[in-house]
Amino acid sequence: MKKRMISGIKPTGQLTLGNYIGALKPFVQSQQDYDLSVFIANLHCVTMPIDPQELETNLKDALAFYLAAGLNPETTDIFLQTDVHEIAQLGFIMNCLTPMGELNRMTQYKDKKDTGMSLSGGFYTYPTLMASDILIHQADFVPVGEDQKQHVELTRDLAERFNNRFGETFKIPEPVIPKVGSKIMSLQDPSKKMSKSDKEGDKGVIYLKEDIKSIRKKIMSAVTDSENKVQYQPETQPGVANLLTIYASLKEITVKQAEEHFAQSRYGDFKKEVANVVCDEIEKIQNKYDEVIESDFLSKVLEDGANKVRPQAQETLRLVQEKMGMDWKR
Ligand code: TYM
Repeated sequence: MKKRMISGIKPTGQLTLGNYIGALKPFVQSQQDYDLSVFIANLHCVTMPIDPQELETNLKDALAFYLAAGLNPETTDIFLQTDVHEIAQLGFIMNCLTPMGELNRMTQYKDKKDTGMSLSGGFYTYPTLMASDILIHQADFVPVGEDQKQHVELTRDLAERFNNRFGETFKIPEPVIPKVGSKIMSLQDPSKKMSKSDKEGDKGVIYLKEDIKSIRKKIMSAVTDSENKVQYQPETQPGVANLLTIYASLKEITVKQAEEHFAQSRYGDFKKEVANVVCDEIEKIQNKYDEVIESDFLSKVLEDGANKVRPQAQETLRLVQEKMGMDWKR
């Protein structure tokens, strides 16, 4: 039997090239070999204030981009987090099993807390809901980018703790981080992750929905350095290293091979070739996106996906409640 894999994306903004390289592309590459489920984390989307209309557009677009990038709903269960009610219920139970000290240590929380922003309880307990997302499906593997690794580690700790305390219940999932492209950086500030929450129009971020000309322009004006040698030196040449990573990932080669390919290139030619590869890949995805975005097939995909994953979610929740003594009448 195939091993089970689950992952999600939280479309609080338009999906970026970072989401594509760190998550979407690996999902597509895994769907043959694994029993893959991919969801849209719309509960996680409301942990910070967001405009309802913008959210609706982002959710629909995320699904269309899943399909456009090559996820096949015949083999991959694609669903909306809120269509599987058991997830939120197990999320609450996970909250009850997680000391606040552990949530205080989550980097995502620490980073936001230090900005002085007013944060919701939902934001604080974001990682425990994520643990529920994963554990409820009894997943073996969780493909994610580098920034989500800490959350999967917390998930593993919670699962182990639960099993020790209440008896074998959860499978212990393992994170799967791409070898190339697990953290794509901003084109303007390569010390920062490329992030969809950056302001629209930010020159450092490439969006999957963006005009191709604008993408090309952003790559051509990506920050580099004065070394004028294309080599993979993330410490001293982070901008060049980032472009090499993007190229290697899209060409499905190693960073070393990419470095060799550009050994004699000047920065201008290097950027041009990276831009061609990125633009070709995104243009193909956009053409498919245009085909699927208007079809009524989208809601059917989500309905079928939720119907397929729900029985396992119900079974896991039932088992958890039974082990915890929450449901004496059964
Ligand atoms: P999110 O929406 O921030 O990101 C979705 C996926 O894209 C990866 N990613 C990146 N990879 C490489 N370079 C980047 N610059 C980059 N930016 C984002 C992320 O690592 C992630 O894999 N909490 C999650 C959503 C979620 C989830 C889950 C994921 C909710 N429940 C359960 C896995 C399992 C999030 O906010 O991802």
